[in-house]
Amino acid sequence: MTSSQSPIARVHFERNQRTRDDWDAFSTHRQHVTGIIANTASRSHRRLCLLGVGNGNDVDLEVLASHFDEIALVDLDDAAIRQCVGGLSAAAARRVTPHGHIDLSYILSDLDLLRAEPSSAQQTLDSLVVKARDLPRQIDLGCWDVVVSTCLLSQLIDSVFIAVGPSHPRAAELALAVRDGHLAQLDALVDDGGKMLLITDFVSSDTLPELQQVAADSLQSLVHQAVANRNFFTGLNPAVLRQRMQNGHLLPKVYPAWRWIMGPRCFAVCAIEAVGGKTQRSNIAG
Ligand SMILES: C[S@@+](CC[C@H](N)C(=O)[O-])C[C@H]1O[C@@H](n2cnc3c(N)ncnc32)[C@H](O)[C@@H]1O
Repeated sequence: MTSSQSPIARVHFERNQRTRDDWDAFSTHRQHVTGIIANTASRSHRRLCLLGVGNGNDVDLEVLASHFDEIALVDLDDAAIRQCVGGLSAAAARRVTPHGHIDLSYILSDLDLLRAEPSSAQQTLDSLVVKARDLPRQIDLGCWDVVVSTCLLSQLIDSVFIAVGPSHPRAAELALAVRDGHLAQLDALVDDGGKMLLITDFVSSDTLPELQQVAADSLQSLVHQAVANRNFFTGLNPAVLRQRMQNGHLLPKVYPAWRWIMGPRCFAVCAIEAVGGKTQRSNIAG
């Protein structure tokens, strides 16, 4: 099944269509994301791979093209990438290569099958958990100085819930396998000594309504308290993500959380930056 025929892919395409014209509304979120990514560039870090770029509303590619010589744009949604590349200046467009139709979970067609035939779930789930964790061996996009996942991981995990439903007894187990596969994928795509940056929404105003109105100087304590109360999306506890991205004794850097307002909903977003190196990362459950 190609990505355009996948029912779950179509859910993501429709989401992108709904936010396609939200460039202005994403302004504050984009400044955070772009600033953090630009900060990773240096004389030895000039090649950037952006995963989950979609419409490109959360990255200013003109700015990034002035920091990086080469930028790979990767997403399932080829039409969204093409549209965001279409609006670039000639100078920026020369530095950018689109990679559409790429399923970064690698299990989308299995999830579609599971959704269509829930009775096959037991056997399929056993093999899917393994496949989702084994992902890095299966996708080859080369190696990069800087690899960034931009608000993609929550969507990869959401595909699991779309497939099996949130109350399925093994939904969380599969979601964590998808998360671990994604972190291993970032590690596999980054050169030794390069930087991997995970940017992810981790809680929304659906379960933390105070996010809508919180004063800027109270945001960090609000989200810390939420995480302490286990109020975060499944698999996206920032403290656990940080532990899992740790490379030997090199502690990942965590940027202060910020708010991403999307229509009537508001998300808290975190960014975690780790050093690439194909070493064993810590193995902490969560
Ligand atoms: C919330 S959007 C991120 C925001 C996006 N950077 C923007 O500015 O529009 C998540 C992106 O993940 C992509 N996505 C979802 N599932 C995917 C998968 N299995 N493989 C690759 N990309 C996927 C969607 O197509 C979407 O573009």
